[in-house]
Amino acid sequence: MEQHLDKVLITGGAGYVGAHVAVALLDAGWPVAILDDFSNSDPSVVARVARITGKVPELYQGDVRDRALLRRALGHGVATVVHCAGLKAVAESYEVFLSNKDYLAAEEEAA
Ligand SMILES: NC(=O)c1ccc[n+]([C@@H]2O[C@H](COP(=O)([O-])OP(=O)(O)OC[C@H]3O[C@@H](n4cnc5c(N)ncnc54)[C@H](O)[C@@H]3O)[C@@H](O)[C@H]2O)c1
Repeated sequence: MEQHLDKVLITGGAGYVGAHVAVALLDAGWPVAILDDFSNSDPSVVARVARITGKVPELYQGDVRDRALLRRALGHGVATVVHCAGLKAVAESYEVFLSNKDYLAAEEEAA
């Protein structure tokens, strides 16, 4: 009997780490959804993941900070999230963090 596995959402799933995680999970039989804004990757990576594994991951294109998109991506049987959407360099993350009004607004809203 085939084992049912819950869906895994990989944010940044078209990036270096995320795409490798996607291939490993799909090969192991997990249903996978990818959320990526392609700011540091290309949609062709998702097609390559599908070619390698023979399975097409669900795709949500956009910013992980877009709450409506995130809600949509999480609303279809996702039980686990692997969060790989981020900026590679620590210094870059600090720069963007400090200038990111959306993030600061979200922090204030949550406080
Ligand atoms: N590559 C490594 O060796 C390594 C090692 C340790 C930790 N990390 C960390 O793992 C994470 C991923 O690294 P990577 O090497 O795969 O980087 P990467 O740039 O190849 O992948 C990140 C992916 O996230 C996407 N992305 C970025 N900002 C986004 C946003 N706001 N919304 C949606 N998608 C967004 C990019 O388009 C890209 O596809 C980073 O936080 C990095 O610091 C990487």
